[in-house]
Amino acid sequence: MYNAFFGFKLSPFNMSPDPSFLFRSAKHEEALANLIYGVQSRKGFIVLTGEVGTGKTTMLECLRDFLNSQQVAFASLFNSRLTVGQFFELLAYDLDLRCNRLSKTEVLLALNGMLVERAGVGRTTVLIVDEAHNLDWDVLEEIRLLGNLENRRGKLLQIVLAGQQELDRKLEMPEFRQLKQRIALRCTLLGFEPRETVAYVNSRMARAGVKDQTIISPELIEEIHFRSQGIPRLINSICDNILLTAFAMETKTASLEMLDEVTADLRLEYPGQRPFRPEPGFPESILRNPGVPS
Ligand SMILES: Nc1ncnc2c1ncn2[C@@H]1O[C@H](COP(=O)(O)OP(=O)(O)OP(=O)(O)O)[C@@H](O)[C@H]1O
Ligand SMILES: [Mg+2]
Repeated sequence: MYNAFFGFKLSPFNMSPDPSFLFRSAKHEEALANLIYGVQSRKGFIVLTGEVGTGKTTMLECLRDFLNSQQVAFASLFNSRLTVGQFFELLAYDLDLRCNRLSKTEVLLALNGMLVERAGVGRTTVLIVDEAHNLDWDVLEEIRLLGNLENRRGKLLQIVLAGQQELDRKLEMPEFRQLKQRIALRCTLLGFEPRETVAYVNSRMARAGVKDQTIISPELIEEIHFRSQGIPRLINSICDNILLTAFAMETKTASLEMLDEVTADLRLEYPGQRPFRPEPGFPESILRNPGVPS
């Protein structure tokens, strides 16, 4: 809507997990390196957890791009509310297993055959499960058993489980201790650091076609960082709404008042106790009105 007004060729703050907008914060870089290293070195189980909206699905999309570029076969499950039967059916479908996909025994036999054959010629096969915190106990147990398939050189199936922090808590439960023991690599995504948030916002706008943007000042991005706690999805949603507001007001400069309005509309909760403390040299124009409680 506002793209032409600001000169964007693409929407800068789209909500989709698009790897072409990837911003490599230290944590995201580390997570992606772990995913790729874990899969390549046939580590078996790899777990990626993180707060809602921190970029887990985006990391998985980047991993999928990498696997595609390396011609690595993978199954990718994004709907984790599955029964055991549905899980095997989807697995067989994704890996294109030629068998009766409704029969768990047949799927297991075909899968085993495929994994042994691929491992025999040095090829890796991967199972990616997003939203893994939603998996039922019996499906997780089947996944654990799949992780047992191995030859002398390593695991036959590399399994990546990504999910919200609830997954970490699930893995601490006594019934999951066998699975927990098998996890070779574990990484956690966090919100950005303040400096990263500034670089993130600028990098998305540059990717969308506006380099060296002056629409949202670094100081205002710092306040956006504080209110979003550096969570990428919240940053996107705030910035998108601010741009829309600025467009509606026919100005190319976002203000603190716009941010106040947007965060109120989004019902954003952030630690209100902390008074807004601008950095030294903070432009007067965007200081909070002292009469307004924070
Ligand atoms: N490192 C990053 N670079 C660019 N964009 C990112 C990054 N991390 C997250 N995003 C953006 O933030 C939004 C949320 O990311 P994503 O959907 O990957 O989060 P998630 O952790 O999977 O969330 P959920 O817990 O709800 O599944 C997306 O719009 C995505 O493009
Ligand atoms: Mg996700």
